Amino acid sequence: MQLQTHIFLIGFMGCGKTTIGKDLAVKFNVQFIDTDVIISEKTNLSIPDIFEKWGESKFREIETQVIGSIVALPPSIISLGGGAILSEQNRSVIFNSGLSIYLKWRVKTLFKRLADCDSRPLLSNIPQSKLLEQIMSMMNERSKYYERAHIVIPGDRYKNINLLIEHIIHEISTYKIPTIR
Ligand code: S3P
Repeated sequence: MQLQTHIFLIGFMGCGKTTIGKDLAVKFNVQFIDTDVIISEKTNLSIPDIFEKWGESKFREIETQVIGSIVALPPSIISLGGGAILSEQNRSVIFNSGLSIYLKWRVKTLFKRLADCDSRPLLSNIPQSKLLEQIMSMMNERSKYYERAHIVIPGDRYKNINLLIEHIIHEISTYKIPTIR
C-alpha cells in the first residue's frame, strides 16, 4: 500500500514511537523521521545537552521549527517527542497535515518502561520513588491532546509488538479521510 499522507506517531516517552515508526517506514517503504534526531543534528547536541545548555523553552522552539519544516517532505512516518503535543502550533500541524496515531499505554506500563531512563531530561532527575507520580502528572496535562489523534492504539491489548504493528497497519489502510480537528 502506498502512503498518501504523513503518519504522525504521538504518545508519552517510552511508548515505542521510534521502534514502531522504523518498522512502519520499512513496511510502507517511506522515510522514517524522528524529530528528536533532527533537532540533535541541527544543533550538534544531544537532547539532554540542549536542555542543560539552553533550557526546555529553547528546545520547544527548535522542536516547533522542525515540525513545521518536515511537513513539506513527501509522505513519511514521523515520530514526535512526547511533549510536542503541548504546543498549539504543533497540534495544528499534527492534526491537519496527516494521520495522527496515539500509541496509548497504561501509566503502569510506561512506568516500567521508563524506569532507569537517563536519556530523557524531564525524567532523569526524578527519583524512582517519585517517577510514577511524575508520569501521572505529565499524562494529566497531555492525554487530552493525545486522545485527539485520528487513531488511538491501546498498546496493552496486544500480546506482542508484531501484532500491535499489524493492527496499526490495518488501521492506517482502512482509515477514511482524515477530518479537521
Ligand atoms: C520529551 C520527550 C522526548 C524528547 C524530550 C522531551 C517530552 O522524546 O523530545 O526529552 O517532553 O515528553 P520521546 O518522547 O521520543 O522520548
